[in-house]
Amino acid sequence: MTFREWFTDFIVSYDWEPLRAVETSPYFCQIATGNVDYWLPHLEMLENAGIDNLPFSAKILDLGTWFGILPFALKQYGFTNVYATDRLSESEFKRKEFDFLWNYFDIQPYDLDILPNKTFKLDQKYDLILLLQSNFYWKTKEVFCHNGKQLTRQWQVKDAEDRTHTFFSPFDKSELEFFNNNMQEYLTPRGKAIIHPSPWVYDQDGMEETSKYLKQFQINNETTHYVLQNQVLPVVDPNNWKDKVWVNKSDKTFFVPIWRCGNTTFMNYCAYQLGFELLHKPDVTGYKGIAFVRDPRIRLVSSILMVQQNTGVTVEYILEKLSENNIFDEHLIQQTDFIKNYTITSYIDLDNYKNYQPKSRMENIIIKTLEVYTDNNSNDTSKQKVFEIVNQPQYKDIVDNYMAVDTVMFNKFGNT
Ligand SMILES: C[S@@+](CC[C@H](N)C(=O)[O-])C[C@H]1O[C@@H](n2cnc3c(N)ncnc32)[C@H](O)[C@@H]1O
Repeated sequence: MTFREWFTDFIVSYDWEPLRAVETSPYFCQIATGNVDYWLPHLEMLENAGIDNLPFSAKILDLGTWFGILPFALKQYGFTNVYATDRLSESEFKRKEFDFLWNYFDIQPYDLDILPNKTFKLDQKYDLILLLQSNFYWKTKEVFCHNGKQLTRQWQVKDAEDRTHTFFSPFDKSELEFFNNNMQEYLTPRGKAIIHPSPWVYDQDGMEETSKYLKQFQINNETTHYVLQNQVLPVVDPNNWKDKVWVNKSDKTFFVPIWRCGNTTFMNYCAYQLGFELLHKPDVTGYKGIAFVRDPRIRLVSSILMVQQNTGVTVEYILEKLSENNIFDEHLIQQTDFIKNYTITSYIDLDNYKNYQPKSRMENIIIKTLEVYTDNNSNDTSKQKVFEIVNQPQYKDIVDNYMAVDTVMFNKFGNT
């Protein structure tokens, strides 16, 4: 079930009454609970940020949570590392009520006050930081109030109809730049921050410079929120792969990279997003083990092409070396060799993953990622040529012999 589907039901069906008895404001009782309307923009932003592709172990921060409803919902849905902040000076007048709510929700928002051009510190890096419906960019200290007689620093007034009018000056381009750079430091590789300054003032007259700056972060240049993304991925030196596997300690899952079996795809699009780290000979006792495997005949063609690219030798030369059991290039190492020291519980056939039945949410996300990023249709002529040579009768025994162990593994476990 997607987060949107789950939340839409949760927000109306959860029993909020014990909380409404304490926090009696209309904002809590009528707007934020019992009705999904208030949350529709939130759900859209969360969807855009890929909430349905985040593992439950992802570290999420709701920065400026106020009541704490969203972190509570995320935890109820299944996320296990959800944190929150609040500007405690602002919520001071609600201390008693909020202590009750936060205790009930089992969240411990920590104090954070973002100020223009001032460095702020978070306690750790996060995979997803949410600043939703946020007024962090209001410079309320930069307005003066003159009532004809006196000059004050009042920034909120009530009119005769009891309507509140709020006055602020918004962060300008350089203040937002400072803030964005600061925020980016707290994103994990591939981490994201959804920044939703509310109300969106950056399309108003006089805001052109800031508006132009923000366009690069807005989706389709037009949303009233913007997304910061940490694109800096740790570079893995190809010589550094030996005896290393990807480990997700929170989900107790590991992934064994097998050369020519989608390990670059896994590194670029799954590993960091799903909270895996590359570890040398880790102890993974009791962990679930995943590997991408391939029909050895398909992989062999891909391996040969890679060896040719690296060394310039002919296909015939490679096959001759294989007949001597000479694995002279890493790309020729058999799949079984990569996994022999591990207990694999999920063998996903990389060329046929649509027929794989995911066993967990994590695997579901991996399969969805493969759908987006793998290219199974590339059937170029160089592949075809190698395929024809490999299939010549005089090489049959060499190829069969080279593939024997992998063939047994693949036939027995592929897509199980
Ligand atoms: C309108 S509430 C938003 C509540 C919640 N995020 C939501 O979407 O319903 C604004 C939140 O931002 C926090 N906040 C306001 N100004 C802030 C600032 N300058 N730095 C950090 N937090 C701030 C407030 O304490 C409050 O929790």
